[in-house]
Amino acid sequence: MRITVVTGGESDERDVSLASGCQVAAALRARGHDVVAFDTVRGVLTAAEEAHVRQHGVGRTPPAPGARDRLLAGDLAFLRNDPDAGSADLWFLALHGGGGEDGRLQALLGTLGIPVTGSGMVGCALAMDKEISKRLFRDAGIATPDWLMGEPSMAEVEERLGWPVVVKAACGGSSLRLELVHGPDEWPGAVERSRSFGDRVIVEGFVRGREFTVGVLDGEALPVGEIVPENELFDYECKYQPGMAAEIFPADIDGHLSERMRRLALRVHDLLRLEDYSRVDFLVDDAGEVWCLEANTLPGMTANSLLPRAARAAGIEFPELCDRIASLALA
Ligand code: DAL
Ligand code: MG
Repeated sequence: MRITVVTGGESDERDVSLASGCQVAAALRARGHDVVAFDTVRGVLTAAEEAHVRQHGVGRTPPAPGARDRLLAGDLAFLRNDPDAGSADLWFLALHGGGGEDGRLQALLGTLGIPVTGSGMVGCALAMDKEISKRLFRDAGIATPDWLMGEPSMAEVEERLGWPVVVKAACGGSSLRLELVHGPDEWPGAVERSRSFGDRVIVEGFVRGREFTVGVLDGEALPVGEIVPENELFDYECKYQPGMAAEIFPADIDGHLSERMRRLALRVHDLLRLEDYSRVDFLVDDAGEVWCLEANTLPGMTANSLLPRAARAAGIEFPELCDRIASLALA
């Protein structure tokens, strides 16, 4: 099959997307497909450019808040007009964040009838917006840490949430535009910095406990993974710098807890109307309560990202996983 892997984008997760895209492209080629990797900013990547990204991975320095996000009609026209990339049988979306993951691109592609991997417009929009996702979780009786929107007063934070809290962009990803605020001293600075997020701000109660993730593929929950970050949070550095987090698949937990999270992941996937694949993130507190944080519609897709590791724990190697995601889009 002729596949265009769409990568890059201009959200703050651009570097992560390039890492995903170049690895997905190589994996799909290994399965015999005719693949180009198309960076929405630069066009078709050369073999040398792809190899460079695969070798260097994601940079150490997170991008500053306020990165541009223009991935819309202009980029789409650029892609469609490319003789190599525009006429493929399928577009494999290896984009993360912004217009590539929040439903805007999915709406355009759906309207144009272009076969594309992953969830559709509604699922992407619901999952990308943490406030909407959390309202739906709460409505469905799925525990999620309590939260306040905007710039609550310190008194409101203390009364409703208590310290610490996590201040984050409502539609952020990869723990960018996010910070942990331990107490009153750190609050004014965090509020000030959150004004440059360029997004609505969510202030979420911090749940102390163990962090888990569950991949969903074609209606099945994959083995649960546990994440043990070196830093206080599973932040950008821990996510993308080798050695900064232990990621254990399958997690060393009892069968009941594992089954509970796997069932919850499937419920969340359906609740948010996600399709084909996703990854749902959880915390388990010291009392054993499971808290759902969020679902990711286009989770990281390097061979060592969380969803591919979960798939490997289920006996599905990375090239096969990419191939299955591609086939699901055409089913
Ligand atoms: N947003 C990143 C790519 C993830 O969910 O894995
Ligand atoms: Mg996320």
